[in-house]
Amino acid sequence: MNPADLPAIAGGVPVRTQPLAYGRHRMDESDIAAVVAALRSGTLTGGDGVSTFEHALAARCNAGHAVAVANGSVALDLAVGALGVGPGDEVVTTPLTFVATANAVLRLGASPIFADIGDDRCLDPASAARAVTSRTKALITVDYSGLPADIPALRAALPRPLPIIADSAHSLGGSLHGHAVGSLADITTLSFHPVKQITTGEGGACLTDDPLLADIIRRRRNHGMTSTADERTGALWKYDVTTLGDNYRLTTMQAALGASQLRRLDDIVAERGELADRYDAMLAGIPGVGLPPRPEGRRSAWHLYVIEIDPEAFGCARDIVIDALRAEGIEATLHYPAVHLLSLYRERGGVPGTAPRAERLCERLVTIPLYPTMTAADQDDAVVALHRIQTWAAAHASAS
Ligand SMILES: Cc1ncc(COP(=O)(O)O)c(C=O)c1O
Repeated sequence: MNPADLPAIAGGVPVRTQPLAYGRHRMDESDIAAVVAALRSGTLTGGDGVSTFEHALAARCNAGHAVAVANGSVALDLAVGALGVGPGDEVVTTPLTFVATANAVLRLGASPIFADIGDDRCLDPASAARAVTSRTKALITVDYSGLPADIPALRAALPRPLPIIADSAHSLGGSLHGHAVGSLADITTLSFHPVKQITTGEGGACLTDDPLLADIIRRRRNHGMTSTADERTGALWKYDVTTLGDNYRLTTMQAALGASQLRRLDDIVAERGELADRYDAMLAGIPGVGLPPRPEGRRSAWHLYVIEIDPEAFGCARDIVIDALRAEGIEATLHYPAVHLLSLYRERGGVPGTAPRAERLCERLVTIPLYPTMTAADQDDAVVALHRIQTWAAAHASAS
C-alpha cells in the first residue's frame, strides 16, 4: 500500500490535527443575550422565565403540559414515578439506549425488562408485546438517534392498554406521520444536554396531555410541596408536603437559554438533516457500511448519525474502526453498549441472548460526527478517514 494511503493507526499521517467531536452545541449571540437578560432580571430560579420556556415547549411539541427539570435523567425518574411504578413492577424497554432509561426503573425498585429492537433500531412492538406480563406497569420507548419510535404501532400490539413513556432525549423536533415528538406517548421526556438539538447546559423536561400527571411531576420537582416559593407571597406563606420529591428545578438562566434555542429548533433540525443526507450520499459506496434506517412517515431529528459496520464486508471489526477513526482525529464513538449486558444489569440477571438483534447491532454500531456547526470540510474528513481505513482493512483481510 502507498504510505500516503496508510491510516494513522498503521503509521500514516492523521486526516486531522484538530480532533473532530461527535457532537457539539451551537450558541448564537441571541442565546447569550437571553442569558444575560435573565441574569439582570433579578430572578435566578423559578419566575416567569421557566413558565415561558415550558409554554413554548408544550406549544412546539403539541403537548398539553411541559415541566422543565434539571436534566433528562431526572425527567425519566419523575415520569416513571408519576405512573406509580414501584417495587415488584416491571417496565418493558429497549436495551439500545443510554443507561439512564433503565436506571430510572431500577431506582424505584422495579425491574426493567429488555425486549428486542426492530429494523428502525427502536423497541420492536411484537417483541415488547411478548415481554408484557401481569406485573408490567408501563413501557419506555427510546427514539434512538433521533428517529421517533412508532408508538401507535406499539399500542396496537400490546395485549392490554398500558402507559407508554417516550424517552425522546434524542428526538426533539422529530415527528411521526406529522405528529410532533412530545404528542405521541403518555409522558415524553427530553434532554437539553449540550450535544442535543437544543441545550440549557444541563436540563430536561416532561411533556404530557394529562393534567394529573403534570401536577404530580411539577410537585415532585419541588420536594413534593403544595406551593412553590413564587406562590408563597403575602398571606399565602404556608405549605404542605403531600408526596416525596426533591429539588429537580431548572434555573431561570437555563430556561432563558432553552427558550432562545427553541426558537431555532426547526432550522437546527433541518441543518442536521442536510448533514445526514450528505453522509448518506458519500458513504453509500463504502463496502460494509450500513446507513441509518429511514422508515416511511418518520422525520428524524438527527441527534446522531450512526452507521453499522459489517465486519466481513468492511474488512475489520467495529472496535478497530472506532480506534482507527480516533487515530485519524475523528472522535467516533459507540451509542450504546447493550444495557442488559452492562455489569450492573448482568448482576441483576442480564444475559446474552435476551435481545439478539440489539446485541448484534451493538457490536456493529459506530457514531460519526454530526452537529450544526460542523462544516462540509469536517464531514469530508470523516468520510476520507473511513474510506482510508476500509481500503487498508480490506487489503489486510484479503492478504491474511
Ligand atoms: C436516551 C437517553 N435518555 C436519557 C438521557 C439522559 O439525559 P441527561 O444527560 O440530560 O440526563 C440521555 C442522555 O444522553 C439519553 O441519551
